[in-house]
Amino acid sequence: METVRTDVAIVGAGGAGLRAAIALAEADPKLRITLISKVYPMRSHTCAAEGGAAGVIKPDDSLEHHFNDTVGGGDWLCDQDAVDYLVQEAPRELIQLEHWGCPWSREADGSVAVRPFGGMKKQRTWFAADKSGFHILHTLFQTSLKYPSIERLDEYYATELLVDEGRCQGLTAIEMRSGQMRQIRARAVIMAGGGAGRMFPFTTNGAIKTGDGMALAYRAGVPLKDMEFVQYHPTGLPSTGTLLTEACRGEGGVLLNKHGRRFLQDYGMSPETPLGKPVLKTMELGPRDRVSQAFWHEQRKGNMIATQWGDAMLLDMRHLGEKKINERLPLVRDMSISYMGVDPVTDPVPVRPVVHYMMGGIHTDIRAATPLAGLFAAGECACVSINGANRLGSNSLTELLVFGRRAALSAAEYLASGARQGDDAALESGAQGAQAKVRELIQRTGGRETLAGLRREMMHTLEQNAGIYRSGDGLAEACAKLAELRRRYAAIELHDKTNVYNTDLLQALELGSMLDCAEAVAVSALERKESRGAHQRLDYVERDDARYLKHSLAHYQGEAAPRVDYLDVVITRSQPGVRDYSGGHE
Ligand code: FUM
Repeated sequence: METVRTDVAIVGAGGAGLRAAIALAEADPKLRITLISKVYPMRSHTCAAEGGAAGVIKPDDSLEHHFNDTVGGGDWLCDQDAVDYLVQEAPRELIQLEHWGCPWSREADGSVAVRPFGGMKKQRTWFAADKSGFHILHTLFQTSLKYPSIERLDEYYATELLVDEGRCQGLTAIEMRSGQMRQIRARAVIMAGGGAGRMFPFTTNGAIKTGDGMALAYRAGVPLKDMEFVQYHPTGLPSTGTLLTEACRGEGGVLLNKHGRRFLQDYGMSPETPLGKPVLKTMELGPRDRVSQAFWHEQRKGNMIATQWGDAMLLDMRHLGEKKINERLPLVRDMSISYMGVDPVTDPVPVRPVVHYMMGGIHTDIRAATPLAGLFAAGECACVSINGANRLGSNSLTELLVFGRRAALSAAEYLASGARQGDDAALESGAQGAQAKVRELIQRTGGRETLAGLRREMMHTLEQNAGIYRSGDGLAEACAKLAELRRRYAAIELHDKTNVYNTDLLQALELGSMLDCAEAVAVSALERKESRGAHQRLDYVERDDARYLKHSLAHYQGEAAPRVDYLDVVITRSQPGVRDYSGGHE
């Protein structure tokens, strides 16, 4: 097996991975950095982010406001030291992007423009029209190209971490073009592989978001933290799940039920304000968990409109006018026309809540270090945790910049402390074992299960039982079903047994990742007997700080279900309180 030797291997070349690579190259030009990605970097899911990135920049805002919005928005499950680090570092990171060429939208006076976002009580979301993720990713990618020490392995699928002497020392990966397995020996590894929204049938997430990075770390013994917290974004297109950014509402769009009523006023969000006013006191800018939950209730009351894809509410932007829509929301207009046949300039667009983001992920400390020496994690695959029980829109692009860089600095410190390569023979044998597992999967015959069948059952189970509202019975059913699906997964057989771009193989490996992550979601959700943020239990409707002001940690147990234990939340100065959105935004 061919061996690549490097100092730091980064798995994932989206925003977090690229930011980490640049920070490492700047920290020490002598470091060899290898960036491994299953797609070409510009196809990473960061590209799909639309609305923007949060960071304090305007005089009426403050770090304290950003901190308070984030901690309250997360229903006090955020680690407050990590939130402090995020909000302090955010403006510097966003200005740094500007210096690297990110074309932030501007105010009339030429200063950086910001827009309102859900749960943020001040305007602090920097944006580049509604293609913020595309421009951020492009900026990072083009910047990364100037560092000769960054070597890229595009279209490589990571299959296992190599662990020896209690340290992560690299990984194995399949070169998709040839089907050959490579071992990548690294003194440190940064996991930046993104989320796992593809476990669910309706999601804004691209096809690549299958939780591979989470699963790799989990199987290597690193717990997955707070996996029960799955974010529904209120406004996805019912036909495809494609995101219509929260910026539609930030710019003044409103949500209507089938009676034309702005129904969020009935769910504890601020009172109705006149349409078209540049006033931010508006109920549509409630946090995502609350808005998605309001949809659920309205649906049960029969107040939603029926579409061929199921029930939907209406996102009305007509009063914004064509000029503003074209300037601020051009992609939204394009996508509404292409995927729904509706032009937001002339008609309200049907939308529904869709799975968007995993608050949980690989357990890290504030330095982005996991409990496994030599392994660091950042971005959506990680849980540091700044998002708590509910992430506020536009904090994730900021998070991947701030903690992508932090992971790099921590990895550089770790290397400087003398981390070295371990026993060659032990690592070689680990790599051979990983290769043998993939060979066995390709060569297996007589399998009884299809990938598509298992994937469909997994998605259906999660949607039915681990969605916006959950119950003990439903979650217990999901746990049993997912355990069964994991057993049946051992009996899949691939149709394609060739080497070159074997997508059957890749999808099989991705399904394995998703099943492991899905079980961690269901088991962690069953164990958390309270309602908090995005985890709402019909049988435990109250938040229970006495028992559950804690992070869950799901530990991998091989074929058995994960074991869950708990870790205290870091509270520095904001004691748990009531989440109040009745006052609207300023
Ligand atoms: O609605 C959006 O543009 C999404 C932003 C985010 O998830 O941060």
